[in-house]
Parts: sequence; structure tokens; C-alpha cells
Amino acid sequence: MSLSTSPIDHIATALQETSLHDPAQQALQRITKIEQVIHARSPIFARLLDAKNTYRAHPAVEERFQYSRARQHATIDAPNYGFRVDFENVINFINGENGGFLQGNRVARFLDLGCAPGGFSNWILDTNLDARGVGVNLPDDEAKIKLDDTACHLRGPRYQVILEDVIRWAKSCVAEGTNPTLRLARITAVSGVDPINGSFDLVLGGAFPTMQAFFPWWHRTQLSFSQVFIAFSCLREGGSFILVTSSKPYRSLIELLALLRLSFATVTACKGPSHKTRSSSYLVCRGFHSQGRRTAINSLRSALMKLDNFSRLPPENDNEGGYHNERSQSFLFSCSDEELLRNEQEFFLKIFEPQWKAQLEAIENDLRKLGTHSL
Ligand SMILES: C[S@@+](CC[C@H](N)C(=O)[O-])C[C@H]1O[C@@H](n2cnc3c(N)ncnc32)[C@H](O)[C@@H]1O
Repeated sequence: MSLSTSPIDHIATALQETSLHDPAQQALQRITKIEQVIHARSPIFARLLDAKNTYRAHPAVEERFQYSRARQHATIDAPNYGFRVDFENVINFINGENGGFLQGNRVARFLDLGCAPGGFSNWILDTNLDARGVGVNLPDDEAKIKLDDTACHLRGPRYQVILEDVIRWAKSCVAEGTNPTLRLARITAVSGVDPINGSFDLVLGGAFPTMQAFFPWWHRTQLSFSQVFIAFSCLREGGSFILVTSSKPYRSLIELLALLRLSFATVTACKGPSHKTRSSSYLVCRGFHSQGRRTAINSLRSALMKLDNFSRLPPENDNEGGYHNERSQSFLFSCSDEELLRNEQEFFLKIFEPQWKAQLEAIENDLRKLGTHSL
């Protein structure tokens, strides 16, 4: 390694040199520099990338994906009870993994971002009989998933739904320099259902692009950061936040975890009982330190402005390859990749290696089954 080359650039250059004829190495060329470093340092992540390439190339996997997408589209206009129960099982699992912190009137006020089909909210209302909540979901003409509020708590007086795109909500607060809680208080006060004052015990950040064929890299980051921005504005001291996130080690995820680690007493992760083959996990953050709220919110405002600039670029730049470098952008911390990794790699791997391992095992199991029973 020459003295003028950073360790991260060295790994990238070595990969370029070895990738000319090897498809696995060529696949590595398509990931960002930070992912390449994680690949070099985490054998679990390296195995996962290989397994994902094999999985994606398996014809039965693509066939099954097309089948389930077609089935979801066929039921798009109807509330889907089974889908809601899936998410009730997810939150029940998260609660069990974390000592039952979500049940038994430990939650009085909650906000559920991306609430449809309503599993999380219904479970919280069911296990906290005095709790009141607000759910936020995309307006009906944009939402691919409907709220299933039949025969459950979601139609009762303890729950209110707001139809709002959380990205647009966060974006307008950033543009106007206002606080998301102001808008929330205005909307809930108008309905008279519950004068929630912006002091929540729990924020569920479950908004995720669902049933969309393609979404550009910045969209998911924008969605995550918007939810964190709203959560940080609404949470009370000591409150909890659960965020669904991709587990791909982009710089933005390492930064996000660093921010959450600074802002909560504990951060853990789990994958939930279903969707284990997918690259998503739930971050479970407990014990909000409200004294850091203002600084964190200011960083999030700047990050959201930067992301908004990406979203204005022409769509031909949206493909994954085209954003090879942009996916490595800094949003919340200005330090170099090396410094970020020096400070955060250990905690990041402690949180995400078990998630990658669970995903790897689920993919390997499925591949074993598909080998003998292709669809
Ligand atoms: C995986 S589902 C969430 C499931 C939910 N946590 C539950 O317990 O039933 C993701 C939801 O996020 C919503 N969503 C996606 N993007 C959104 C956005 N920009 N604003 C608000 N909701 C959004 C989708 O419409 C979908 O209902």
C-alpha cells in the first residue's frame, strides 16, 4: 500500500485489479467503497453478498417474487387481515425480544409512521388499554396498502389516522423552519379526538417503500431520516423509537446508527419472525436523551435538505450503478469515511452482523429447499 493511499482506497484499488474476469469480484465493484471495506472486514457480510447473488439469479426466486407481487396487486383495494396480523406478530416478537417494554400500560401515547395495514398500532392498543395513538399513512390514492380497521381497536376513540406522506411532512417543516409537532397538534386538535401534545412515549417508524418496483437509493434514506426527524421532535425524555431500516452498510446507515447510539440509552436490532430473507431489520432504541434533541434535529434538517437536492436530479441518474459514489455521501457527520469507521465500525458490526447472519441462514435454507422443489 502506498503511503499516500487511504486504507479504503487501497481496498477499492485492489478490487479493481482482481475483478477483470471474476463475476463475484465484478459484483463487488458495484457496491460502495464503505461496503467494500465492510466486505473485507466481515466474513459474514462477504458470505451474505455471495448468497444474495446466487439467490437473485435463481429462477424460482424471481418466479415466486412475481407471483406474490401479482397477488398483492390483486388485493390492493381491500384491507388485508392476514397482512395486519403479520405485523402484529412482528411487534409481538420485538416486544418479547426486549423484555416486554411495549405492553401492560407502559405506553400511554404513541405515533405510528407508515401505519397501514395497522398491525403495530392495533397490537399496542390491545396490550395497553389506556393508550392513545396517532397513525400516519400515505393518502389513499398513493397508498398501496390499506388500513385494515375492521373488528379491532383502530376504529375506536383511542386512535386517529392522518393521511400524510412523512417525506412531504418533514420536507415542509424543513423548508418553513417549523417543528413537526406543531402540525401534529393542529391536526389532532381539529378532530377533537385526542389533544396529543407532542410528547410521545413511543414512535414507530415503520414507513417503508412497499410494492414499488424500483425506488432510487436516496428515497429510502429520505424516508428513514424523515421518520427520525419526526420522532426526535415528538419523543419525551426516556421514550422509545422503533425504526425499520435496510441493513445494507451504506454510509448513511452507519451515520444513522451513530446518531441513534448518541441519542438513546440502548440500541438493539432484530429481524422479526417473517421476511428473514430480506435486507431489512428493526432498530429498537430505548431511553431517549432529550438534551441532545436540538443538535440532532439541526443535523437532520441539513441532511434532509441535501437529500432533497438529490431527489431533484434527472431520473436517469437514479440507477444503482449511477449512484456508486453518491450512496457514500455524508449526511449527518462531516468526518471522512476512515474516521467514521474508526469510531463506529465496532458498534455497527455488533448490531448488524447478527442481522446479516440471520438473513444468510434464511437464504441458505431457502436455496436448499429450492434446489429440490423449484416452483
Ligand atoms: C411495511 S408497511 C408498515 C406496516 C405497519 N408497521 C403495520 O404494523 O401494519 C409500510 C407502510 O409504509 C407506508 N409508507 C411508505 N412510504 C410512506 C410515506 N412516504 N409516508 C407515509 N407512509 C408511507 C406504506 O404505505 C405502508 O403502509
